[in-house]
Amino acid sequence: MSSDHRGAKVVTRRGLLHGFAGAAAASSLPVFPIPALAQGARFKVGFMLPYTGTLAKLGQSIDNGFRLYVEQKGGRLGGRQVAFAQVDDESKPETVPDNMSRLIGRDKVDVVVGSVHSGVAMAMVKVARDTRAMLIIPNAGANDATGLLCAPNIFRTSFSNWQPNFPMGKVMYEAGHRNVATVTWRYTAGQEMVGGFKEGFSKMGGKIVEDLVLPFPEVEFQALITRLTTLKPDAVFAFFAGGGAVRFVKDYEAAGLKRSIPLYGPGFLTDGTIEAQGPAADGIRTTLHYADNLDNPANKAFLAAFKKRVGQEGNIYAVQGFDTAALLDIGLGATGGDWAARDAVITAMEGAKIDSPRGPLSFSRAHNPIQNIYLREARKGRNALVSIAQEAVTDPALGCRLGA
Ligand code: BEZ
Repeated sequence: MSSDHRGAKVVTRRGLLHGFAGAAAASSLPVFPIPALAQGARFKVGFMLPYTGTLAKLGQSIDNGFRLYVEQKGGRLGGRQVAFAQVDDESKPETVPDNMSRLIGRDKVDVVVGSVHSGVAMAMVKVARDTRAMLIIPNAGANDATGLLCAPNIFRTSFSNWQPNFPMGKVMYEAGHRNVATVTWRYTAGQEMVGGFKEGFSKMGGKIVEDLVLPFPEVEFQALITRLTTLKPDAVFAFFAGGGAVRFVKDYEAAGLKRSIPLYGPGFLTDGTIEAQGPAADGIRTTLHYADNLDNPANKAFLAAFKKRVGQEGNIYAVQGFDTAALLDIGLGATGGDWAARDAVITAMEGAKIDSPRGPLSFSRAHNPIQNIYLREARKGRNALVSIAQEAVTDPALGCRLGA
């Protein structure tokens, strides 16, 4: 670590590579350098997203959604021209130290936007806490990011893993299901999404027959599907996303289970994947903070603009990227583009009320979204709104002392 011209501690690439683990324990934390506002200086956004692997489409959608917002603002956020840097995290937590050092040390970004995978995001959160770099999480739901490890410089524009799943417990119980099996990948997001669902379901009186898991990002589902056939639960709750979700939904249908054992899950099971899943997805009910046909002007405008720019249907990941840019626009706009006025930027972001394509979006004291969770049903390539499963859901933010 060295010092810049203002005497602030500067994180060097070498320091980032070797110093993260011990940084928090050191007597003074390494401090993320906040450059003074130079005349005409560009505001630099660093994407750390999966651009390859099973979650690649999710990362690309976030990137596209963010850039769409910036384009609509004439290439500016808070009045400042925007420049981009990007790294591929491959959904591998071990890539984080090197990638953070690239974005912060080499590319000198003002804010890091990432990532999709909960394990990657948790590694990023640790670095952001140590370095005080501004981090906005545009997808990954790891509960602790806005719970035990919440921090003033960390915001999330997506969800906590608990948030879309807790309401599903009531939905499935009220649909008459009493004995449910769960199936997911064995990693933070899988465990926490299933955990949120089980909390809601057991509160209603429902019973879990068995929890089935396989390692992330494996897609050999046959043994699990055979086990579900033997167990014969009333219904199945599943979390998979991206390429894994496409394959699971197709395999489940091909095994002839969909009619006898209804399939449910968080909306990631069919969002951004529904076109590739085709008729195999029809009838699957999911809960999420978005539905394709939400009847609000912001959603209609967003979907039309996304289709025009990208040539694809929008999805929740693109919405989250779009809203991440909107949040930064609010923070930077409040200070006339002065990112170094960190306290004022954070205060403005904390008070943000965004007219999002997902509906009203505001932020909890832990910097996690407060938002509606919708029940949707997959119908002919669309995640169609059925009802609002729970209005204005706030994550419990266990262990977070911000604003307490
Ligand atoms: C996660 O790892 O947090 C995650 C990945 C894909 C979709 C949703 C959440």
